[in-house]
Amino acid sequence: MNLAVELQGLSLKNPIMPASGCFGFGREFHEFYDLNELGAIMIKAATGTARFGNATPRVAETSSGMLNAIGLQNPGVESIIENELPFLQQFDTPIIANVAGSTEEEYVYVANKLSEAEGVAALELNISCPNVKNGGIQFGTNPEEAMALTEAVKAVSRVPVYVKLSPNVSDIVAIAQAVESAGADGITMINTLIGMQLDLRTGEPLLANGTGGLSGPAIKPIAIRMVRAVREHVSLPIIGMGGVSHAEDVLEFLLAGADAVAVGTANFTNPYCCKNIIDALPDTLDRYGYASVKDIVERSGRRGISISSS
Ligand SMILES: Cc1cc2nc3c(=O)[nH]c(=O)nc-3n(C[C@H](O)[C@H](O)[C@H](O)COP(=O)(O)O)c2cc1C
Repeated sequence: MNLAVELQGLSLKNPIMPASGCFGFGREFHEFYDLNELGAIMIKAATGTARFGNATPRVAETSSGMLNAIGLQNPGVESIIENELPFLQQFDTPIIANVAGSTEEEYVYVANKLSEAEGVAALELNISCPNVKNGGIQFGTNPEEAMALTEAVKAVSRVPVYVKLSPNVSDIVAIAQAVESAGADGITMINTLIGMQLDLRTGEPLLANGTGGLSGPAIKPIAIRMVRAVREHVSLPIIGMGGVSHAEDVLEFLLAGADAVAVGTANFTNPYCCKNIIDALPDTLDRYGYASVKDIVERSGRRGISISSS
């Protein structure tokens, strides 16, 4: 079964990719399987200069998902281009580079640099990180700011710009429509939901940051609801994510209106997760009576999306 997907500016062998921050820059996973098998790779967020991230502890396992408050730790955009991208460029797999910042100027600087880098097929504009005080979320919770930032980044980017939406808003459709009207090429959704876990002895939050982003299977029903809502009002391609760990989850996201799907937290418990899903996808589609990815998209009744034939 041909699993290929054509999104705005992105030709994918299959609709599966690791989500930003959950696959680093691929090196560790390369020891487990051939990264050529992936539809794309979403790499860890880049900022203008190196960031140490938040104080530890910054990860906690809860009874229903994982909390993290990494705080955009990364070596800075120039170091990523010089030291990380060359490793990924050896694979025939599109790189989707995650762009973050504290100010519009920083976003524009990082986007400009990354969009010029070899192998970067698209940018993912991270306006949804809940774990930093300045930047990220402030752009993702206000439609006007989301629109202005998307326009500014579109003006300098040489590659398609996908905007990553936050679920920590009262009306995600309004943000999606704002970035669509600003010229975004696609949407990725969702980032983590703000949560907190307490230390039972002290009553204090377990994470040094206080709050963190909840991810994993617990957030999948929220992500599905939001993808469906955005799909009803926006015709941009959507890369859906939130709690995906099996091929059935992928099918559900595609039925909700996504065109491709990213796998985040599941990579930490099963490094083979993306590969397992890709291998299982043809049989899973077949079992539920779908002839191809395109067949699901057509039968879920949406318009305006170009998906290559089976
Ligand atoms: C440890 C960790 C680090 C993350 N770092 C980033 C990041 O750098 N940029 C970003 O856009 N999203 C980041 N995310 C969010 C994921 O890409 C994804 O949107 C979210 O975890 C939901 O998917 P999941 O439930 O499959 O993990 C991170 C998530 C986790 C768990």
